[in-house]
Amino acid sequence: MVKSIKLANFRSHGYTELDFSPNTTAIIGCNGAGKTNILEALYYAFITKSFKSPQSSLVSRDMDFMKLNVEFGDNKINNLEYRLKKSSSSIARTITIDGVKKQASDVIGTQPIVIFIPDDTRIITDGPQFRRNLVNGIIIQTSREYLAAINRYQKLLNQRNHLLYSLKNKRTTSKDQLFVYNLQMAEPISVIYHYRDELTQFLNQNISQKYSSISGGKDKINIKQLSTLPKDKHGILSSLEAHTSDDLALGFTSKGPHKDELAIGLNGFPSRDNLSRGENRSLALAIKLCELEFIRSRNQTPPLLLLDDVLSELDESRQKHLLEQATNQQTILTTTAETGNIGKYEIVRI
Ligand SMILES: Nc1ncnc2c1ncn2[C@@H]1O[C@H](COP(=O)(O)OP(=O)(O)OP(=O)(O)O)[C@@H](O)[C@H]1O
Ligand SMILES: [Mg+2]
Repeated sequence: MVKSIKLANFRSHGYTELDFSPNTTAIIGCNGAGKTNILEALYYAFITKSFKSPQSSLVSRDMDFMKLNVEFGDNKINNLEYRLKKSSSSIARTITIDGVKKQASDVIGTQPIVIFIPDDTRIITDGPQFRRNLVNGIIIQTSREYLAAINRYQKLLNQRNHLLYSLKNKRTTSKDQLFVYNLQMAEPISVIYHYRDELTQFLNQNISQKYSSISGGKDKINIKQLSTLPKDKHGILSSLEAHTSDDLALGFTSKGPHKDELAIGLNGFPSRDNLSRGENRSLALAIKLCELEFIRSRNQTPPLLLLDDVLSELDESRQKHLLEQATNQQTILTTTAETGNIGKYEIVRI
């Protein structure tokens, strides 16, 4: 449970201290008051990245440092602190948990979170990157093995791409290392595929029912992981080897988990270009509700639910659906107006 947050020079917050209810806190303030900034600070604290921009933009304008503190109630840890120090060319970050220096990978998963933002429909309507980010964002919070595999894969991918680029531009001629990268990558890729399959299965088992209860209809949603490589280690290695000459011509790695797609179909049709605005909203909401359930079922620490200004976007019945979830775990929501629906929550005005 998150007890409080202290922000010093975080975006528009010169200094802000907020206490949260163990149940639901509604942060109310006018446009531009800094409500989204507070949720962004919480997201950043637990995911170690912003959901909208690079971390240098988190430091208040005209300032060169930022400090963020989160106090917990009954978690394994009491205090999480971030310090960012900006210089003209770089940014230095220090993370500490209860006074001990930590890496980003030590923090992710300590307090799982699920955030709903008005932009969530982009999961349906925008490019595959949005769905890959969704999938990664869910699984890194539920499996340390997946988090380690993603980090390892990303590192090897960067190195492999760097070499392919150098070879294409004739800055080097030594191709031998490519085989080593292929060999090293096969292991994390097989781990990534294992966990992505598990999530896909969970979504398929739960999403149609979630969607129907929001839309009121009897729709069938089908979710499929479209992988660019086979699933088993041996197959992954042979396929990477087979694509190496294409990759050499391109100057980058063309196949792998960074290129895969999560295909979402509604009643047999791909959802990306075929749905109405209302259907997009219902489907995005259903996916996010499944995310919440998945994270809840896989973690000992209950997730923190963050709702940024999403109620105004939803009609009465969808609002009701979402707010029913708010009672199942600690929730922090933002809104510009005190509506009847949130009257019963602990209200913080900023
Ligand atoms: N690095 C920064 N330094 C100072 N101010 C910033 C920085 N980044 C953003 N801001 C400002 O923070 C202000 C508050 O933004 P925020 O998005 O949190 O408002 P909000 O309360 O969510 O508003 P809305 O109701 O419109 O969503 C904006 O005026 C923005 O210009
Ligand atoms: Mg906002």
